[in-house]
Amino acid sequence: MKIGIIGSGNIGGNLGKHWAKAGHQVLFSSRHPEKLNNLVMEAGENAKAVSVTEAFEANADVYVLAMPFKAIGKIAEMYAGEYGNKIIIDATNPYPERDGEVAQKVRDANYNASEYTAMKFATAKTAKAFNTIYAAHLRDRAFQNTNKLTVPFAAQDTDSKNVTQKLIEDIGFDALYVGHLTDSGIMDPDREIYGKSLTKSELQSLVDAFRKL
Ligand SMILES: NC(=O)c1ccc[n+]([C@@H]2O[C@H](COP(=O)([O-])OP(=O)(O)OC[C@H]3O[C@@H](n4cnc5c(N)ncnc54)[C@H](OP(=O)(O)O)[C@@H]3O)[C@@H](O)[C@H]2O)c1
Repeated sequence: MKIGIIGSGNIGGNLGKHWAKAGHQVLFSSRHPEKLNNLVMEAGENAKAVSVTEAFEANADVYVLAMPFKAIGKIAEMYAGEYGNKIIIDATNPYPERDGEVAQKVRDANYNASEYTAMKFATAKTAKAFNTIYAAHLRDRAFQNTNKLTVPFAAQDTDSKNVTQKLIEDIGFDALYVGHLTDSGIMDPDREIYGKSLTKSELQSLVDAFRKL
């Protein structure tokens, strides 16, 4: 698959390196793509660095949001239009101390952070994944054959569900589907499965316990 990474830092940089290693074509994007030379070298021949606009124009199959939450509105405006009909995997989290008013608004709202993203990227199919994992675990615990860590995800439709599951499994994590975006609140900051580095059965137990409440 061709994967556009929006924000190539701790999360986007490591995801892109893993996917490139797994044989996917990776476009790392940045507001300063010339600063991504080391990352591209580490990622190898399947990766290159582009601007955010170039990433969208490149017509990737999937875009991964891995920049600060406050940038969602602006990035969604850049994405809109003729190339705005893709799968978006949202790895962001709203932190008011970093992202300001918009993050507080979403934290206080009666919808989940993923639903905010889906509203902004209205023409896309949105999934939520990789927002609950520690960056160090994403970097160090991919491609395990045993004791795999589990990455929970939620998705808007069958396509975004299948693609997200495959991309999680391609880099050696187990995938746990928690439901539609309306069910993704348990993945939001400080909620039931946020920051939990667990096996699939352990994570499933937490999800089940929450659903029984
Ligand atoms: N760190 C974690 O443990 C962790 C875990 C799960 C999820 N997350 C979430 O994942 C997202 C990225 O976190 P991170 O730790 O990877 O951050 P990071 O290392 O700071 O990387 C974010 C990247 O986004 C780009 N960026 C910054 N401001 C931007 C803006 N206004 N518009 C467009 N791009 C911008 C920056 O690249 P340029 O300056 O080169 O454009 C930066 O390299 C956040 O929403 C975070 O909450 C983090």
